[in-house]
Amino acid sequence: MHISAELQQLFARVKRVLVLTGAGISAESGVPTFRGGGNTAVWKGMPFDVISSAEMVERDLPAVWEWFDYRRNFLEELTPNPAHFEIASWQERFAELTLVTQNIDGLHQKAGSRAVIELHGNIWRARCTACGTTYSMVQQKRPDACLECGEALRPDVVLFGEMLPPGAFEFAAALASQCELCFVVGTSALVYPAAGLPEIAKAAGAYVVEVNPERTPLSVLCDEVLTGKAGEVLPLFQ
Ligand SMILES: NC(=O)c1ccc[n+]([C@@H]2O[C@H](COP(=O)([O-])OP(=O)(O)OC[C@H]3O[C@@H](n4cnc5c(N)ncnc54)[C@H](O)[C@@H]3O)[C@@H](O)[C@H]2O)c1
Ligand SMILES: [Zn+2]
Repeated sequence: MHISAELQQLFARVKRVLVLTGAGISAESGVPTFRGGGNTAVWKGMPFDVISSAEMVERDLPAVWEWFDYRRNFLEELTPNPAHFEIASWQERFAELTLVTQNIDGLHQKAGSRAVIELHGNIWRARCTACGTTYSMVQQKRPDACLECGEALRPDVVLFGEMLPPGAFEFAAALASQCELCFVVGTSALVYPAAGLPEIAKAAGAYVVEVNPERTPLSVLCDEVLTGKAGEVLPLFQ
């Protein structure tokens, strides 16, 4: 693994850094990536994209909860890996660090990252279907119904057929257009608009670095491609 002198110098001197992460950063923690098997999961005979859909929230919310409770239960045992910890340490290193993730697993927060921009929500939160009040499920149970209005709760994640949380992408895009260095870690870069963030950073003059064991559609746009696992590559930056 070779990190160019240019990148090492930038890393030592820049102030504004944006990191975009996807399922791949959690692979070494034991979370299946989408393409690495996560998308073939079946729950009660329903394929992943059916049980995780907006339509199913309307049709059978208890089944949706069963599936998400099962997934949280699985995640409970898992811990952040060196890639999550390295990025968390960058909060202290750079004047402005923006962390944008497509993951819902909460492992960045477990590693100590604060103010994570979560494009797809968080599996550890429930949200009221009526008034939008959110409830943490980190080491606590969700209430049976919304404590504000009594309506049903649902997982606070973006399901198939749903829009991103209002403003999240726009906020991330504004920061992408101001960063000097942009890391794209463990995302197949197929899911828009998230995949557009590195393009925005690049167009605004940032140096864009990809960390992934495989090439992606974004590789050609990047100034540098670090081919390898996130948990092995990122700690090299210390
Ligand atoms: N952990 C999670 O929360 C989780 C898990 C699976 C899927 N998802 C969701 O599925 C969608 C899939 O998009 P995506 O691009 O994030 O995931 P993806 O599964 O489409 O792509 C994963 C990428 O990670 C790379 N990868 C695999 N192991 C890696 C490693 N050790 N280090 C670095 N990279 C590695 C793969 O080569 C691939 O390019 C997202 O919307 C996401 O919300 C989330
Ligand atoms: Zn409510």
